[in-house]
Amino acid sequence: MSIAEAYDIPVSPLVPPSPPRAPENMTVFGRIKAIRESPIGMWGQRAYEEDIIQGRFLGRSSFILNAPDAIKHVLVDNYENYTRTPVSFRVLRPILGQGLLIAEGRAWKHQRRTLAPAFTPRAVMTLVPHMLAATDETVAKLRAASNAPVDLREAMQRMTLEIAGRTMFSFGMERHGATLRDFVMEYGEHLARPNFLDLLLPLSWPSPQDLSRARFRKRWTAFVGMLMAERRAAGKKAGAPARDLFDLMGEARDPETGQAFTDDQLGDQVATMILAGHETTATALFWALYLLALDPATQEELAREVQGATASGALDLDRLKFTRAVMDETMRLYPPAFLIARAAAGPDTIAGLPIKKKDVILIAPWILHRHEKFWRDPNAFIPSRFMTGTPPDRFAYLPFGVGPRVCIGAHFALVEATLALAKMIGTFRVTLVNKEPVKPIGVVTTQPDRSPMFCITAR
Ligand code: HEM
Repeated sequence: MSIAEAYDIPVSPLVPPSPPRAPENMTVFGRIKAIRESPIGMWGQRAYEEDIIQGRFLGRSSFILNAPDAIKHVLVDNYENYTRTPVSFRVLRPILGQGLLIAEGRAWKHQRRTLAPAFTPRAVMTLVPHMLAATDETVAKLRAASNAPVDLREAMQRMTLEIAGRTMFSFGMERHGATLRDFVMEYGEHLARPNFLDLLLPLSWPSPQDLSRARFRKRWTAFVGMLMAERRAAGKKAGAPARDLFDLMGEARDPETGQAFTDDQLGDQVATMILAGHETTATALFWALYLLALDPATQEELAREVQGATASGALDLDRLKFTRAVMDETMRLYPPAFLIARAAAGPDTIAGLPIKKKDVILIAPWILHRHEKFWRDPNAFIPSRFMTGTPPDRFAYLPFGVGPRVCIGAHFALVEATLALAKMIGTFRVTLVNKEPVKPIGVVTTQPDRSPMFCITAR
């Protein structure tokens, strides 16, 4: 029985916007344009129905995997044979340095086991007061401005950036937040989109955009260094418990070698955690608020849950089951990381198909989460599908990836997003000023094509 058949849930009438399916015979230039503008518009109907789609692109074979066994093979059983793609290195290295997200091989193993203790559920619980303080401030600011149209996408970006800053450094982002945001916007808008030469040239040949990226990196690392220096100046009493991720990562030691991070390595981890964490979570929260604005009945159900989970002003995370299901369903329909791409480091066989070195493997949460084989009414917003007691197949639902390279911040993000959504909907009734559809586009993450204005009224 398929996962979809196992559900017996009433169907929500809400089918939120998604791009039309692409024609099956797209030209190479059409595909390059789509990769630059929005890869989620690049896949045809077959991708949402079949197990494996084989293709060719710029002289390499590519495989879109939708079969759970094939995905398990690449992301779990033989993960060491599959590295990030050359274009991911090209686009991410200038902003993430040699941090965990793009490290490979032994360097990655050292970093992952050193950082793991800083992201356990227990460590994340020590960061919750920072998350709550930043969320409460956002809610208070919005309350002061309620009844007027408000850009909740921007509000969520500011809030998650504030949370990233406070959980990292224990200080508010009022002085540096605007500069940090400018860096992120500048990179996202001008340098993160690969162009034709980025896709074509080998990594050892700098593309014209690489020169701009290198200039950006110089300014960016100086800025991160300044933040670290400020945090160090704020100090920490010897023997006092870790206050934030900076303490946790600075005190981290490789359990096998006892090695700590050097200053440069720590700087790359700081940049990685701030950048990998804040935009993804802001995007998930934006889409959750958008979906709830389109679906008032679900919004009211969530508000009732929040009321029941609030005892003497404090929110009980364990009682926010429906809120969590809304986040899960939001990340099914609009997975912030819409694509997990890998390049084969050596030959292999996947589901009987021969794989050559440098072949490209695409595992797309965007496709898997809407695949006809795994979901009933794949395009409909039905949070209760996550409350049946039967979790979806772990290789069909992967907003955070799966296997050894699964998102290290998954628990952090889920706690943050569930608490923030509960606070927002517990405080405000959220509607859209204008019902014009907001379309998702894939630019690093699954972004809305515009920032719609919302109306919020206090409950
Ligand atoms: C809703 C929010 C988030 C989503 C959807 C998300 C998604 C993902 C995905 C899909 C991967 C795996 C990529 C792959 O296998 O190629 C990943 C990796 C990673 N994420 Fe997240 N993430 C989120 C939040 C966070 C947060 C809050 C942090 C840090 C505080 C973080 C840090 C990282 C890092 C460092 C990696 C690389 C792990 C490794 O390669 O070992 N992420 N994330």
